[in-house]
Amino acid sequence: MNDDQSPSDLADSFLKTLRSRRSVRSFSDRPVPQVLIETLIATAGTAPSGANKQPWRFVAVQDADLKRRIRLAAEVEERKFYESRANEDWLTDLAPLGTNAEKPFLEEAPWLVVIFKLNRDDEPVRKTDQVYYVNESVGIATGMFLAAAQVAGLSTLTHTPSPMKFLGEVLGRPEHERAYMVIPVGYPAPDSSSPDLERKPLERIMVVDDGAAPNSSDPKRSLPSSMAPDQRDGLAGSPE
Ligand SMILES: Cc1cc2nc3c(=O)[nH]c(=O)nc-3n(C[C@H](O)[C@H](O)[C@H](O)COP(=O)(O)O)c2cc1C
Repeated sequence: MNDDQSPSDLADSFLKTLRSRRSVRSFSDRPVPQVLIETLIATAGTAPSGANKQPWRFVAVQDADLKRRIRLAAEVEERKFYESRANEDWLTDLAPLGTNAEKPFLEEAPWLVVIFKLNRDDEPVRKTDQVYYVNESVGIATGMFLAAAQVAGLSTLTHTPSPMKFLGEVLGRPEHERAYMVIPVGYPAPDSSSPDLERKPLERIMVVDDGAAPNSSDPKRSLPSSMAPDQRDGLAGSPE
């Protein structure tokens, strides 16, 4: 922690960095050193996990031939997705993103980090091989990976070709590792652009209990405006 900055300054600065993250679907050929990828994966590995089982594996792919095989296999699945698997609502929701079955970024990005979830623990020192809350744990680790990449000035995409069993096959992974996500990592192509999307404002995602504040020095703040009036009336001490 930086002693010169208040917790609020530090949190604001992290928010600013993460607000600048956008999914990138077109990458330049600027290389990314392996040591940087190692740091991102080490950061992801700090994530909390059910019973500390750390049920994840991050396979970092840079070989052009492997990336091509992944692209070709992903496009086979994606063509089926866009032609028949996706229902109308799904295609409607995807339309603003401008995505289609072509996945050139799987070859362009200098690295593909393929995240696998483990359906049993394979650490030899452990007493049992059960794993707990695997999706939650791997999701948190993935988020930390994405945040670390953003802090390092790198761009990413969370790509989920479906189904993604082919990833385990192409990468020769053991049966208990299940593909979870593919994350191309690199720098955006000069002509890369992101669709114009908005984030929900804080008042749409946060509901605050404005009851007795344990910290009396904390000034009362306005309730999120989305709180229903009847809920609001029921809360003691509302400033509104
Ligand atoms: C679980 C998950 C799966 C996603 N799968 C894909 C995908 O397969 N292809 C893609 O182009 N984007 C994918 N995305 C990216 C989302 O479309 C994107 O995060 C969203 O539109 C918000 O845009 P932003 O990331 O630029 O803020 C996925 C995102 C998440 C969280």
